[in-house]
Amino acid sequence: MNSNNLDRKYIWHPYTQMKLWNNSENIVIKSGSGFSFVDSKERRYLDGISNMWCNVWGHDRKEIIVAMKKQLDTLPHSSLFGLVNEPSVKLAKTLTHIAKGMSKVFYTDNGSTAIEAALKIAIQYWNNKGKTQKKNFICLKNGYHGDTIGCMSIGYIDGYFSPYKSLLLKTIKVESPTIRHEKFGSQNFEQYIDKIENVLKNLSSKISGFVMESGAQIAGGVNIYPKNFQRSISDLCKEYGILLILDEIATGFGRLGNMIEYKAQHSEPDIVCFAKALTGGYFPLAVTLTTTDIFNEFLGDYWAKRQLFHGHTFTGHPVGCTAALTNLELYEKLNLIRKIRNNSLVFNRLLKKFSELDICYDIRHKGMLCGIELRKGDAPIKSIDKVPIGQYIAKESLKKGVYLRTLGNIITIIPPLAIEQEDLVKIVETEYAIVKKVQHKIGRY
Ligand SMILES: Cc1ncc(COP(=O)(O)O)c(C=O)c1O
Repeated sequence: MNSNNLDRKYIWHPYTQMKLWNNSENIVIKSGSGFSFVDSKERRYLDGISNMWCNVWGHDRKEIIVAMKKQLDTLPHSSLFGLVNEPSVKLAKTLTHIAKGMSKVFYTDNGSTAIEAALKIAIQYWNNKGKTQKKNFICLKNGYHGDTIGCMSIGYIDGYFSPYKSLLLKTIKVESPTIRHEKFGSQNFEQYIDKIENVLKNLSSKISGFVMESGAQIAGGVNIYPKNFQRSISDLCKEYGILLILDEIATGFGRLGNMIEYKAQHSEPDIVCFAKALTGGYFPLAVTLTTTDIFNEFLGDYWAKRQLFHGHTFTGHPVGCTAALTNLELYEKLNLIRKIRNNSLVFNRLLKKFSELDICYDIRHKGMLCGIELRKGDAPIKSIDKVPIGQYIAKESLKKGVYLRTLGNIITIIPPLAIEQEDLVKIVETEYAIVKKVQHKIGRY
């Protein structure tokens, strides 16, 4: 099909002011090639954000595609309502081996629904134990867990969600620290833990679970936790009888250089969610894992209604599970975690020169995650040439052959996990040139 004839006016794009959306300017992606997208005019765009933080192997990884095609030929879908399919059984076994301490897998189809399932499991766990007053959640400020109503309630970001405030559940929000660039000195996170402990001490009888992203908050501003912060929360949850619900949707499977982030953080969740990289980014699939202790509370007579009343049409999708199994085999076969750790050192070196630019207020980096915060003095840079800074940077990046999005004034470089070094260098160099240009323009105001 000739893409000039594509009538694109029917799509309502996510997080997009459609009045500013210009169909003729926008790019139609036709194919994937290595770590790039290719558009209808054969222009290539290196993927600087791993296609919304989910892509692992680039956009044409044969092993996964072949396995998915084979599964489609055999069985396109059969749900887990009263039946089971082979790939979902195999994947559940694999996941419980990788994610130590977890023994059951509940399947959903995106990150938000994995979190919704986790919240329902936590509430019903306490209900089934007869502790119905334990119905609140405690969570970290600047956390993000998805766009559904439960997720917005625990991961409230004012800039996104204020119109929906009236819909949201009441939750308890506590401050979290972040690792900042050396120039800010080391940060003492104990004060945050003391405050959290105070809340837990007073309210533990009402709190069902502590929900947080594992290792780092991404959408809330690329905040990387200091060492032992997550471990301290995990210890407090055990001490005060609160379930620890970890969101590894964006950070699991290597984003921060560790296969399972909660293990690297020495924390012990009761419930943990994975999605995004699970299938290499090739199929919408998500999982909510729990311990045996949680699962056992749901057992009983049919009429006792202890069972989990939750399920999706596409639960345990065999094509998605096949993609995930093949993806996880490749992790092991190609030792992806070692590659990420090596590339992370290169990434770190490449980022050093950003700190020479006055407008780079802070550079936060770990593994294959990076946020570069732009400010003029203390003020976040909001726009350039009257265009919002995020749009300006995204457009400039596309012009230079890189697909990238920002979080407001924070440039995020979150490349495919298996990216080759030369592609990583190209992305970082491109963004450096753009930030330099922004600094030059800002200097004129
Ligand atoms: C940490 C985290 N949790 C949950 C989600 C929601 O996932 P999805 O967009 O698949 O609903 C995201 C999405 O970016 C995320 O970053």
